[in-house]
Amino acid sequence: MLVILAFYALLISRQSLGQSVDPIVIKGSKFFFKTNGIQFLLKGVIYQQAFSNDLGSISENLAAASISTTYVDALTDASACQRDVPYLNQLQVNVVRSYGIDPSKDHSNCLQVFADAGIYVLADLPTPGYTISNTNPQWNDVLYKRYTAVIDALEKYDNVLGFIVGEDVFKGPGSPSDSSSYVKAAVRDMKAYIREKNYRAIPVGYANTNAAGYNYLDCGNPAEDIDFLGANMRNWCGDNDYGSSGWENVTKSLHDYSVPAFLAEYGCSTPSQRNFTEIGLLYGYPMNGFWSGGLIYEYFDKDDQSGYGLVSVRGASVTKLANFTAVSTQMAKVTSSIVNAASYTPDSTTTKPCPAGVATTLPRNPVAPQVSASSTTDSPSSSTTTAQSNMQNSLSTGAKAGIGIGAIIAIVLLALGVFFIYRSRKTKRKCSPEENDAKWGNKPELPVNSTNSGKRGISPHMLDGSSRAELDTKTHNPIQELPTSGTEVFEASAGPHGLPELSAPKS
Ligand SMILES: *[C@@H]1O[C@H](CO)[C@@H](O)[C@H](O)[C@H]1NC(C)=O
Repeated sequence: MLVILAFYALLISRQSLGQSVDPIVIKGSKFFFKTNGIQFLLKGVIYQQAFSNDLGSISENLAAASISTTYVDALTDASACQRDVPYLNQLQVNVVRSYGIDPSKDHSNCLQVFADAGIYVLADLPTPGYTISNTNPQWNDVLYKRYTAVIDALEKYDNVLGFIVGEDVFKGPGSPSDSSSYVKAAVRDMKAYIREKNYRAIPVGYANTNAAGYNYLDCGNPAEDIDFLGANMRNWCGDNDYGSSGWENVTKSLHDYSVPAFLAEYGCSTPSQRNFTEIGLLYGYPMNGFWSGGLIYEYFDKDDQSGYGLVSVRGASVTKLANFTAVSTQMAKVTSSIVNAASYTPDSTTTKPCPAGVATTLPRNPVAPQVSASSTTDSPSSSTTTAQSNMQNSLSTGAKAGIGIGAIIAIVLLALGVFFIYRSRKTKRKCSPEENDAKWGNKPELPVNSTNSGKRGISPHMLDGSSRAELDTKTHNPIQELPTSGTEVFEASAGPHGLPELSAPKS
């Protein structure tokens, strides 16, 4: 027995050394296998167990979550991934999308199990409590660190297809509380981070339900543009067809899109008998020419009567639901025409101008301002800066100590310098060395003082120093703020439902 286990362990470790999967690359508006140049169509499924307080959609879950929301990282349990592979195979799934990645966990075994099965992974960078809010958007160092931590945790796996910076964060440029420039800033900074770290050029994209914002993500400076678009289209329901579902309109509006697009979520749950006839159109005529496939919402049944799940999982046992049969039946009928990278010439390679009325300047890289903030004595935006530097884990103890020691040395040197200048001049100046010391002495106290205030830092969308901060000061217990953020959820979820042609009907 022990020998078998040892052999198995050896096999696993040997496998994890090998690269069994060809990375997916982008050319123009299509995905390709890197080595053989064959086009890659996503046959995907949302692969994420319920959050502790599950609201039934990715965007609502992420927007509403606080760091106290518990979640399962679907990509850490190799035996669970192994358990699901035969079912994913029957569904012809080649991509899973997970939006609860815990960067502190080990993903190697599950990613290897999926790699061996030819399954790629789309990972959302937001995690519960850490997402760009769609009502009070921020792009700050806390989010930056969380997003890059997820990238760091997954970049080494060849079957990571891409990273998603957010979902339904914005309702379209020009709409109230537009957050689209924050999305572009996040895309820009994550792409730059991957370049700077010399990671594989893993694509960075974004998922949205409202098609009105799609053009803004594919215009202007390419360094700020998405590498792929995830269109959420859970609106093909019941007797809908290509026209009445709204899919035709979206497809037409994207005809000159310059990056790959796929359905980041599709599959309606009303009526409860889902027949998935849309699969034939998505992978065949008329959508196959433009779309790179899509991801079905969703693999796991969440016991919430929403009717989306394809399987019911209890421990090690998996039960196929009616949805499962419908999907596998439709998938079996699919014939797609695909192209080869060598013979494919992208339609448009010129940069498109951005739509009128959209933000032309994006929020800054939140890591860069920290450097300049420490070199200026007084910052008018100190409330935000201070709140950000207050976040737990914002700086390691070592970094804090280093800054402290560095600052003390700087002050001593400065004081000495000022003292010698003072002595050599012999003329009394208005600014005494004591005053100088006092002025510069404020500097090192900043990070120390900052731990006194704003300890809350629970959710990045609470970091705004303006109106919300005033609200927050009225509550004595930081935990009391959670219900406040809960009310925001309703504002957030109201968005998609206000767009009848694209909203996902809920049961
Ligand atoms: C598609 O677009 C046309 C023209 O703008 C519009 O009249 C129609 O209502 C749209 N269809 C759907 C289902 O949204």
